[in-house]
Amino acid sequence: MSLKLWTPDSWRNKSASQLPVYPDANRLADTEKRLASFPPLVFAGEARTLKDRLAKVSRGEAFLLHGGDCAESFADFRANTIRDNFRILLQMAAVLTFTSKKHIVKIGRTAGQFAKPRSNDSETRNGTTLPSYRGDIINGYDFDALSRVPDPERMERAYFQSASTLNLLRAFAQGGYADLHRIHSWNLDFVKKSSRADQYESLASRLDEALAFVAAMGITSGEIRETEFFTSHEALLLHYEQALTRRDSTTARPEYGYEGDWYDCSAHMLWIGERTRQVDGAHVEYLRGVKNPIGLKCGSSMKPDELIKLIDILNPLNEPGRLTLITRFGHENIESVLSSLIRRVRMEGRQVVWCCDPMHGNTITASNGYKTRNFLHILSEVRKFFAIHRSEGTYAGGVHFELTGRNVVECIGGDQAITESHLAEGLYETLCDPRLNADQALELAFKLVSA
Ligand code: PEP
Ligand code: CO
Repeated sequence: MSLKLWTPDSWRNKSASQLPVYPDANRLADTEKRLASFPPLVFAGEARTLKDRLAKVSRGEAFLLHGGDCAESFADFRANTIRDNFRILLQMAAVLTFTSKKHIVKIGRTAGQFAKPRSNDSETRNGTTLPSYRGDIINGYDFDALSRVPDPERMERAYFQSASTLNLLRAFAQGGYADLHRIHSWNLDFVKKSSRADQYESLASRLDEALAFVAAMGITSGEIRETEFFTSHEALLLHYEQALTRRDSTTARPEYGYEGDWYDCSAHMLWIGERTRQVDGAHVEYLRGVKNPIGLKCGSSMKPDELIKLIDILNPLNEPGRLTLITRFGHENIESVLSSLIRRVRMEGRQVVWCCDPMHGNTITASNGYKTRNFLHILSEVRKFFAIHRSEGTYAGGVHFELTGRNVVECIGGDQAITESHLAEGLYETLCDPRLNADQALELAFKLVSA
């Protein structure tokens, strides 16, 4: 396959699904220009580090935990939300590490996860039809005509919110909050009251003993006091992604006139969604040219041939860590689809990370109209994912969840026995897909490691 020259804007010559049509082209161009002049949110070297970590995952030496909100919002922009989401991922990682004895690579759906693909372009309520909400970076959630008009200046607000979120996450990761000695204190608030609290406390006590032993041996390691935490989002809104695309001067070779590799500096990792993964489409075109590690969502309609074509484009050099396949089939479909994809990828010798997203193939509408997911379906898809990889002799490299550290009621089931009627009691807060709450997320982590 011959590929044309890539430039940060070459996606503009391709057909693009899911992109908004901005009514005022001048305002859009002005915003893009300002964004392009702002500092990058991440440094290319960090994206390379993540790629190395994911290469370890692809070799079976580490495990990926990827999770966070379905959609971040401008309204819920608070330190506590950021802290709670970070903390639940740390807790899940502690549970997974302790049992698997593997390093857990932690990536948040955060600091930029604003743009949402929609199955329908419009939404009708009580006889009124308006354009769909597409995430706070594009338009407003309120159901009125003005709020639903795409506004380019929202990209700037999303950039500043992302910068600020990332700043706090870096502080938490490196400033002592993530110190493993504090593992007991992560168990605060409502998780403490949860059915899993005792199990978590006992794990934390065993970890304390291990840490005391390590300290007595005189071993000190920065990895106990700090953690690595990476950010990611769906690279949907290409105007925003292009504006944050920068050349990495540390890879420049001026003697050959080479100005350096291109990185999308809006996040460490970017992924392509299920609705925008067309082989000839704009999103695949954009992401093929940046050097970040990237993800590709694979739903039930993905055919082995199509997957190989996408891999050819997105990872032509077959670099380990470059491409993570995030499969999202649904608990009823995974058995009929995953094996054939695994076999083809293995036969062709492609290096990928296999990661299971048990959320997006398991969305249902409750009888009272709420969009929800059943804890049992989520657990069932992940268990099948592990079993299929075991029988194919491949490595089940990671899991991808929509979750929040807050006490929401959006997914049904789990130890809390959430039922459809609980969804209507006022704690259903997501602007898009239903998330696991902290209790359900921790329960899931424990259930994943207890075969
Ligand atoms: C998402 O991850 O929120 C999402 C929209 O997923 P998918 O592209 O797999 O439907
Ligand atoms: Co979602």
